[in-house]
Amino acid sequence: MEAVADLTTEEAVAERSTAAGANAHGRYAKAVEVSKRIRWDIDRDVIRGRRFDFGKKFLPDGLSKLDELAFITPAEHRFLSQIQGRTYANIFGLVERFIGAKVLEISRDHWLGDQTALEALVRFTDEELKHQEMFRRLESMAAEGMPAGYRFMPQPNDVASVVLGKSTWAVLGLTLDIELFTQAHYRASIDPDPELSPLWKDVFLFHWKEESQHAILDELEWKRANARLTAAERDEAVNDLIALVAAVDGILQSQAQSDAEYFLLQAGRSFTAQQKGSIHSKLLEAYRWQYIFSGVQDARFLEVLGGMITPAQGERIHAALGSIGSPAN
Ligand SMILES: [Fe+2]
Ligand SMILES: [Fe+2]
Repeated sequence: MEAVADLTTEEAVAERSTAAGANAHGRYAKAVEVSKRIRWDIDRDVIRGRRFDFGKKFLPDGLSKLDELAFITPAEHRFLSQIQGRTYANIFGLVERFIGAKVLEISRDHWLGDQTALEALVRFTDEELKHQEMFRRLESMAAEGMPAGYRFMPQPNDVASVVLGKSTWAVLGLTLDIELFTQAHYRASIDPDPELSPLWKDVFLFHWKEESQHAILDELEWKRANARLTAAERDEAVNDLIALVAAVDGILQSQAQSDAEYFLLQAGRSFTAQQKGSIHSKLLEAYRWQYIFSGVQDARFLEVLGGMITPAQGERIHAALGSIGSPAN
């Protein structure tokens, strides 16, 4: 540091950016190395000729919140966790459509630059394409063992078109959030639950392994995008991030409605109007926890975001999140 202090301002800036570049290069290189080491195959490593055990739960209670519905039977609890687990896999397949496209787009900045960074982003995109295929396989395997009538409401390309119309800063912020909560869900809720379908659990074990590198790359790319913005552009990008979270909530509202209707149609018994309302609101609450609130509480996400925005921008984001959880919504 003393050596840098002795340099002229211009030299010091150049030195610091070279040091930052070398540091980033090392992190891209690490992501490539780990990606190569843990690379898995859908059939050989994950599915291994297995089918879902529909006598077991899919989504753990820590994520599904179903232990808070006192009036449902154990079989209904299990069925609802399978519905939520099916939606969980489909949501990942959905977001991976825009994540893969965005990463491919920003890889352009590295085409004639750091070839290790380029390789890291190409591998990232390749992995998201593989994950989408795995989640499509899961959807058809879930459909084999569950009654007809389940519907996944959002269309991946429609959602991706809306998301990719927003600023890169906002899309990378949402992406880092998603890829961090993917890991947090596995560590805190999926891994410790011994009662889940072994195949469903393995899918998210293998997914988690590759997502760890993605979150590192998201952070590097988000910071790179952030460094290019003027204060006014960043302020606009904060609005975009808020709009994206609102769009996610719109998707969750429609899917919670659809999943509650599917359950009630297949449950084979009647519920009171109040119980029906509780099932619907518990699903929406669980989905908001899974896809919005668990992510924005992540310490790493808060640290990176906090290093980019002003306190007033942080307040705007906080207020927008508060309105999602309010009774009016
Ligand atoms: Fe993924
Ligand atoms: Fe990912």
